[in-house]
Amino acid sequence: MRRPYIAGNWKMNLTPSEGAEYAKKLGEAVKNAGVDCRVMIAPSFVSLPAVSEAVKGTGITVAAQNMANHLSGAYTGEVSPEMLKDIGINDVILGHSERRQYYGETDEIINSKVLLAISLKMEVVLCVGETLEEREEGKLEEILERQLRVGLKDVLPEEMPRITIAYEPVWAIGTGRTATPEDADAAHKFIRETVASIYSEDIANNLIIQYGGSVKPGNIRALMEKENIDGALVGGASLKLEDFLPIITYSK
Ligand code: 13P
Repeated sequence: MRRPYIAGNWKMNLTPSEGAEYAKKLGEAVKNAGVDCRVMIAPSFVSLPAVSEAVKGTGITVAAQNMANHLSGAYTGEVSPEMLKDIGINDVILGHSERRQYYGETDEIINSKVLLAISLKMEVVLCVGETLEEREEGKLEEILERQLRVGLKDVLPEEMPRITIAYEPVWAIGTGRTATPEDADAAHKFIRETVASIYSEDIANNLIIQYGGSVKPGNIRALMEKENIDGALVGGASLKLEDFLPIITYSK
């Protein structure tokens, strides 16, 4: 049985004080609603301490949106996973398409981050997804397969329970253009089959695969009804209680 996993990626939004204020309300609302899915929020690095404090005791996981692929050293402007662990952060989003597109992160760089996070017993949400051009050229499966095979290279079978995959088609991010539940489910099915071929049916069946790309209160239910969609990685709609709470409580 795969437990639904709803996550909010705040991207570069909300200051630490705005984030903490919102997180406090969200934590209380989630606690009162008695939700049964796993809930995660990923604020910016500087907001992590304040947001963690604000959601204490609510069961909400606080994650980083990225991390360095080194433990320490001369890497100006980077944040190491050891620093995250030191402030109680054990979860990290890696390989987001904005990291790939704007900051030149390759599958190999992302793989080195995944391996480092896993070696520190962290939990990872590994993002994959094709651009519009790649989809139109019929390269969807080729792209997903490469992102998965390289991104997960040298991750051991017993480490896979600490990996969540987020399928985020780049053309659906922040565009208001959601993949249809059928298209998303087909991509998720392909991801599950690829993971089965790398590891095993059992590992693939237990793998949580989130969908991301213009998830809103109005489309979450139809997405979550699909067999291979186990959760959501929400951007814009995770920034306000009135949008994010109905997504988290979609099954109520
Ligand atoms: P939007 O929900 O704003 O489309 O963003 C999706 C996303 O990139 C989450 O990581």
